[in-house]
Amino acid sequence: MCGIVGYIGKQTACPILINGLTALEYRGYDSAGIASIENNKICVMKDKGRVSNLNNIKGINKLDGTVGIAHTRWATHGKPSKENAHPHMDNSETFAVVHNGIIENYNELRNFLTDNGYKFLSQTDTEVIPNLIHYHFSKDSYADDNKFLRAVNQATKDLKGSFAIEVLSNLYPDKMIVVRKDSPLVIGKGTTGYHIASDIPALLEYTRDFYLLNDYEFAVMDKDSIKFYNENLVEHEKEIKNIEWDASAAEKNGYEDYMLKEIFEQPIAIRETIGSRLKLGEHCDFSDIEISKEYLSTINKIFIVACGTAMHAGLTGKKFLENLCKIPVEVDIASEFRYRNPIINEKTLCIFISQSGETADTIAALKLCKSKGAKTLAVSNVIGSSITRESDYTIYTHAGPEIAVASTKAYTSQVVLLGILAIYFAEILESTDSKVLEDLKKDILDLPKKIETSLATTDEVKKFAKKIHKEKDVFFIGRGSDYNVALEGSLKLKEISYIHSEAYASGELKHGPIALIEKGITVISILTDENLIEKSISNIVEVISRGAKTFIVTNQNLSNSDFDTVIKIEKTNPLLSPILSVVPLQLLAYFISKEKGLDVDKPRNLAKSVTVE
Ligand code: G6P
Repeated sequence: MCGIVGYIGKQTACPILINGLTALEYRGYDSAGIASIENNKICVMKDKGRVSNLNNIKGINKLDGTVGIAHTRWATHGKPSKENAHPHMDNSETFAVVHNGIIENYNELRNFLTDNGYKFLSQTDTEVIPNLIHYHFSKDSYADDNKFLRAVNQATKDLKGSFAIEVLSNLYPDKMIVVRKDSPLVIGKGTTGYHIASDIPALLEYTRDFYLLNDYEFAVMDKDSIKFYNENLVEHEKEIKNIEWDASAAEKNGYEDYMLKEIFEQPIAIRETIGSRLKLGEHCDFSDIEISKEYLSTINKIFIVACGTAMHAGLTGKKFLENLCKIPVEVDIASEFRYRNPIINEKTLCIFISQSGETADTIAALKLCKSKGAKTLAVSNVIGSSITRESDYTIYTHAGPEIAVASTKAYTSQVVLLGILAIYFAEILESTDSKVLEDLKKDILDLPKKIETSLATTDEVKKFAKKIHKEKDVFFIGRGSDYNVALEGSLKLKEISYIHSEAYASGELKHGPIALIEKGITVISILTDENLIEKSISNIVEVISRGAKTFIVTNQNLSNSDFDTVIKIEKTNPLLSPILSVVPLQLLAYFISKEKGLDVDKPRNLAKSVTVE
């Protein structure tokens, strides 16, 4: 979704801003713009379309201001257009603002400002912000140093909804103010000044030292100092955090696309996720969360709540927790969960999975659980992200930055981490035989090696992708954990190839979808659970006899002559098989998208991090 970049320091801002916007392109957007202070005046340049279009705007190369803000917009209020692109200014062109999030009461504020003589040039909710700042600024009769900050603070008090904003003013040409509420914003301390962004990867090129802003925390910067204030404008010190991500981790490193790179990074991502948490012959180490036996023994229900791919990881997490800890688990889509009045109390543990840690619905669901007295545990990939700050406990996947919109390595890392968490709980609760747990640990430690075999299927998968890339409908089927992978495989295909696909539990085929199977339809089956093989094969035979083409991902010795394509992966504990079986499906979606000539990393209409509801 929308991306924010800012710079204040000793260097020319414009190239740094455009570079930052380019790094944020993966979030999904439809217009872009920048504003910098040029000779004590605010200069705004913006347009719809790609960030690269900005370079065609006349005069952009001449900007040499050292203070600037920038934005990629993903349209919510008002169509993608130059007028609606950010930055937005107030009527007097004294303040410029970029904004991520949604101002829920913007209509009311717009009416109020209109009644006070303000005019609006765009259809956006954002445009009320610079005008509100101007309104409060002009009402403030004290002309001290804090007047600018007071006006921004007053304006944010009027806003309902979510926001991360950067503000410039031609009256304070050497300053920038930023603030956030429920929308991500980080400030990096670079060697030449301060870099601001909605996302850490956009700044890894400049620094690994970050200030992570809290809700309603204001940062006021000039080129060599930064001050933090709370919502009552009391100044306070703030700790700087070192983020260990490697700068090159956010680059393509010779791969054609981020998605392919991230698929191939899975062995290393899983190794990092396992880290020192799991060792043979020892109890799992989650000393960072310290959950007591006393507390865990009171838990009679676990909810796992997430969106998209993270929710699919939760489905496998459920199997781990129910099998090993014997606690009933429900998995919910965050946007449904929050409105279905779930039964939550202090005996419920609520787990939230979010790669970005910024998904609006997941955060809202977390707040709901907290308000009902449940303890909350976040599984996230982004240090200091909103979800990690709201929850009682946080565990990190350490998969490294994931840039492609379609999630791959974050998914497998989430599944691994949920597996280790379930073992950790089972050890505390003594709910599963220690030999079973020890065997599972061995299997987890073997995953990075075994996933290499899944990656080695690339050429075969590519051939099948060539064969089916023009199709309109594809079916995915599986039973048990294989069904969870079918759901994820189908989502990947939809996201990046725009082919309609459905995932069905194999046993449900006869209850409807088999009516759609006819000659030439592709059915993709995942077949890894020994206990369910015979039944699953019967389902595949049923679709073959109706003329379907079959693509099978399996760890069994199946005869290739019965099926169109058989992709062989390694055997592992059935609970872990999704980590190995999802890889050929990720590759299949990737190669189909390439065959169709689509933008794999930035699929249409989608955003990496969905920060609005
Ligand atoms: C978006 C992304 C998906 C992701 C989902 C949840 O839809 O495109 O790849 O799975 O959000 O994101 P999260 O950051 O909460 O895991």
